[in-house]
Amino acid sequence: MEKSYKRHLITAALPYANGAVHIGHLAGVYIPADIYVRYLRMRNRDVKFICGSDEHGVPITIKAKQQNSTPQEVVDKFHLIIKDSFERLGISFDIYSRTSSETHHKTASSFFRKLYEDGKFIEKESEQYFDEEANHFLADRYITGTCPKCGAENAYGDQCEKCGSTLSPNELINPKSALSGSTPVLKKTSHWYLPLDKYEPWLREWILEEHKEWKVNVYGQCKSWLDGGLQPRAVSRDLDWGVPVPVEGADGKVLYVWFDAPIGYISNTIELLPDEWEKWWKDKETRLLHFIGKDNIVFHCIVFPSMLKAYGEGFILPDNVPANEFLNLEGNKISTSRNWAVWLHEYLDEFPGKEDVLRYVLCANAPETKDNDFTWKDFQTRNNSELVAILGNFVNRAVVLTHKYFSGEVPSHLKSELIDEDTLAQIPVLKKNIEDSLENFRFREALKEAMNLARLGNKYLADTEPWKLAKTDMERVATILNTSLQICANLAVAFEPFLPHTTQKLAYMLNMKSRNWDDFGSDSILRPGHKINDARLLFEKIEDEAITLQLAKLEAIRPKVIDEANEVAIEDKLSPLKDECTFDEFMKMDIRTATVLEAERVPKTDKLLKLLINTGLDTRTIVSGIAEYYTPEEMIGKQICILANLAPRKIKGIESKGMILMAKEESGKMRIVSPEEKLSNGSCIN
Ligand code: MF3
Ligand code: ZN
Repeated sequence: MEKSYKRHLITAALPYANGAVHIGHLAGVYIPADIYVRYLRMRNRDVKFICGSDEHGVPITIKAKQQNSTPQEVVDKFHLIIKDSFERLGISFDIYSRTSSETHHKTASSFFRKLYEDGKFIEKESEQYFDEEANHFLADRYITGTCPKCGAENAYGDQCEKCGSTLSPNELINPKSALSGSTPVLKKTSHWYLPLDKYEPWLREWILEEHKEWKVNVYGQCKSWLDGGLQPRAVSRDLDWGVPVPVEGADGKVLYVWFDAPIGYISNTIELLPDEWEKWWKDKETRLLHFIGKDNIVFHCIVFPSMLKAYGEGFILPDNVPANEFLNLEGNKISTSRNWAVWLHEYLDEFPGKEDVLRYVLCANAPETKDNDFTWKDFQTRNNSELVAILGNFVNRAVVLTHKYFSGEVPSHLKSELIDEDTLAQIPVLKKNIEDSLENFRFREALKEAMNLARLGNKYLADTEPWKLAKTDMERVATILNTSLQICANLAVAFEPFLPHTTQKLAYMLNMKSRNWDDFGSDSILRPGHKINDARLLFEKIEDEAITLQLAKLEAIRPKVIDEANEVAIEDKLSPLKDECTFDEFMKMDIRTATVLEAERVPKTDKLLKLLINTGLDTRTIVSGIAEYYTPEEMIGKQICILANLAPRKIKGIESKGMILMAKEESGKMRIVSPEEKLSNGSCIN
């Protein structure tokens, strides 16, 4: 924070109320945002944390159709699930409202109206698919047809889920309306567009020149959008769910969801602070930060700022947009529709009292600079060998020993040694590291440093062994436990942004009435003679059964959905077809069966095996790069196929005559190719 601001307005992306919240949302957006906000509050900054449900858009109307209910019923249901689960996880919003609220409709409507009256939009006619039976324009998602790229039957108007191509509805072959099944017709419609191209020079200056400090993933995405050239963007849609376009003759039209949703940040601030919202949005001394996922970057860095700029009247712009990448689950992309996800509300029910374990694991693994993977095994390991074995164990030993030797009263520093001072001197250093990391949105690093404080405590106890000294030197024991308890008190502050449930328990155990960031770093937070409460375990071991259960839940889905997704992903990345080759060229290659007689590793290499093979015609040596996939023992006796007339080559000083045919997957995995049934050696292949 180079500049010092008077107040901080922190927003977290408004989640779509067409489904619950999963670990991907949490790791990418809500946990980092909450850590940051809690940190600011600890530092006594004036801060407001704004969020709410994003309740408009086509996916919600589709969900309603699928479930035979209304959009309102859908958003009512998910709004409650989301709001409640955030609360239980300890995401400390100052307000969690919703875009179907009256305040939001009014705010978004008047925002549009002002831009409209100020002539900031252009109106354009275009042709869009219309369902004559249902008497309805069709959103891209409502049109299905054959994919022009891969021929899949049920591609959507905006995307083919089979091959992943982005489409536009008029590319579909045999388009069908999802409303009535009839063939839609093209019909003229008119919409309002925000001419983003006009804002391009200003955006270039503002982002590319003035915000070079933004995260590289964010800056890079903005730069590539800007370099690609911006186009006017439609801000209205033909749909009957959303904020109606407040212009005469615009019946059946609503604001595009990406136009109204970010205004939701403003509406929700108004709802929270009806009398002073303006200073939060218009005073230059407010620092605005948007926490989002990577799929939201363009809307928060380019579209919404352009809207605010167009509006004028002194709206501030975000000072930073700390967007994260995506979190995968057990090696595959999280998918709401395929149910490949860990849902927050289910987690909270299945792991009661373990809110902070999830917070810890998701922060430790947050996809800050690249996509990352969540695995249940890692979840278990981080709980058992970090939270239980390091943080929990240290606190427990310090508190239990204090009760054992000093009846629960903080003992005095009676006899200091160098190790005490050295240990305590580390605390301000760690504090500084945590602050630097947090202020640069490096939450994983900050958490690691907080954990290092617990490590420091553990090491200190292991080095000083007060339980041994208790027989001979109670003055040392007093000093060691005083020092240990000071570390515990520091932990109760350091971890507050990350693990708020745990620090509350810890503060109770230590009988700390208040916790201030300013005390963090001190070697005397707890006074001698201060009474502490009984020890309670901060964390419990997670057994294999709990993990097996979660994995079984996922495995039940994996076969049908994930293989399909992988196929697509791999097909997508296959190397392109090589240039044409003639029949004669092919016939020049002498490919035959052969059997491996001997195999050994080529010394001082990782990949090479030296094989002696019987080709039927001769016995010869081939050097092959398959050692990562086959051991020498596995190769002996195998029938393989070789290119027998390849010119001999020297590899690592060994003459290699011919080449073994291998199939190589995109992932790098390789397998030898052999005839379906053993044939005599030297059989020709063509
Ligand atoms: N609902 C969007 C999503 O989940 C995020 C909207 S953020 C807002 O991707 F700025 F538009 F509110
Ligand atoms: Zn396709």
